[in-house]
Amino acid sequence: MPSEDPFDTILVVDFGAQYAQLIARRVREAHVYSEIVPHTMSAAEMLARRPKAIILSGGPKSVLEEGAPSLDTGVYQAGVPVLGICYGAQLVAQQLGGEVAHTGRGEYGRTPLSVVGSSLLFTDLPTEQDVWMSHFVSIVAAPAGFHVTARTPEAPVAALEDPDRRIYGVQFHPEVIHTARGQEVLKHFLYDVAGCRPTWTMSSIIEQSVAAVREQVGSEKVICGLSGGVDSAVAAALVHKAIGPQLTCVFVDTGLMRAGEAEQVEQTFRNQFQIDLVHVKAADRFLEALNDIQDPERKRKIIGETFIRVFEEVAADFEDARFLVQGTLYPDIIESGTKDAAKIKSHHNVGGLPDDMQFSLVEPLRNLFKDEVRAVGEELGLPEEIVWRQPFPGPGLGVRIVGTITRERVEILRAADAIVTEEIKRAGLYRSLWQSFAVLPAVRTVGVMGDERTYAYPIVIRAVTSDDAMTADWARLPYEVLERLSSRIINEVPGVNRVAFDITSKPPGTIEWE
Ligand code: XMP
Repeated sequence: MPSEDPFDTILVVDFGAQYAQLIARRVREAHVYSEIVPHTMSAAEMLARRPKAIILSGGPKSVLEEGAPSLDTGVYQAGVPVLGICYGAQLVAQQLGGEVAHTGRGEYGRTPLSVVGSSLLFTDLPTEQDVWMSHFVSIVAAPAGFHVTARTPEAPVAALEDPDRRIYGVQFHPEVIHTARGQEVLKHFLYDVAGCRPTWTMSSIIEQSVAAVREQVGSEKVICGLSGGVDSAVAAALVHKAIGPQLTCVFVDTGLMRAGEAEQVEQTFRNQFQIDLVHVKAADRFLEALNDIQDPERKRKIIGETFIRVFEEVAADFEDARFLVQGTLYPDIIESGTKDAAKIKSHHNVGGLPDDMQFSLVEPLRNLFKDEVRAVGEELGLPEEIVWRQPFPGPGLGVRIVGTITRERVEILRAADAIVTEEIKRAGLYRSLWQSFAVLPAVRTVGVMGDERTYAYPIVIRAVTSDDAMTADWARLPYEVLERLSSRIINEVPGVNRVAFDITSKPPGTIEWE
């Protein structure tokens, strides 16, 4: 971003794993804009982005390893403040002439830190504090011109700095919540060392996005596919704020949505925001296309293709529209420092629309993390049910009905799923779970209700915690919640006579059953 922009920019150099994203988010929580860049980026390219400061992330390797990721040392000569964290601090020490060594004594987890010198980073902080460590090699000598400002029992150089050149390093992780005063250390770096202004706020983010959308689309017409999920909803609301009646939203009801989802979209976008909304009721078409299909991948393909056909047909009515809104988020486009992730992923939120559609993309969320998207959604007045809705797969209930999909089976699953959502919310667990839902397997089991033998479907309850859906753990739902779920689902959903709870993590299971 150019310097006349309302935001200062911090570059977070990514040395692998998830460290950089967390640092970037913490910087933004301090109301300073941050971008993640790969460690392979040259100093000239970094400086071309006019950063107010550069933060070097931690990483899974040791600087002593052959082929460990490195950094263009031009970064240290640019006069831009630098903060190295963990691996980043070791790199600062190593590249500027200090010493990093295998001492045989690493530190993992909570570690007592003693501040031993005066440092802007530790202003107003206690001289003794617990910090979070994770290192198996240590900085044993700071480079010439640096002084040591903190140590721990096993790290003689736990923090170092050359305040004249504004180069700092901390061996501990200020970005993790286990370092209780870590955010203050980061803020001292951002405000006191780098002189950043805390202008990355919700209202300024919205203001800037609105201006950018207006500039991009001018007086052209724009269409936006709504899925019912948070990303497309916030993107639509932002674009609507920017260009009002130039926007038309399209909601394709596949018949495989959660209970109340279509009504919620109508209520929010047509009634509350008064957005021009095309609601395509395509359930029959999807069910017909899925008739007798059992294979999960074929289901996905059919649902995806049918979605595209329907969307194209609707879009044909808007031949004067030149732009299509997509809810792409920042994590989808981060240029990662890890080798194979260096390419930029393109992520289609609207069911994988084909490239040959004659639209230019409008991506108003492409600089935002998910928590920022939610905050923007709340600020724009979107209802809580949409802003905090758990993720839902594009193929919808179609991949939660194992075996053939019939209207009857969709109704059973939708009703059971609504009870799961209701009870999980009632127990105050909804936001803490990554996903919680019902699955309908392809078997029937024997039961007895009253004096009658029954032969009906079981419902499986799936509830997981996760940060990113790559791995997940099954949620330890309280017995009372499970009990209510079991009794309500069996009593209220005809065709169900048994409830089971899935206690499989990912891996080895996946989150969805198909
Ligand atoms: P799995 O089941 O692979 O799911 O552990 C990981 C995350 O991805 C979602 N998911 C999908 N999302 N289209 C989507 O848009 C799909 O075909 C699909 N399959 C799974 C799933 O809900 C979870 O959040």
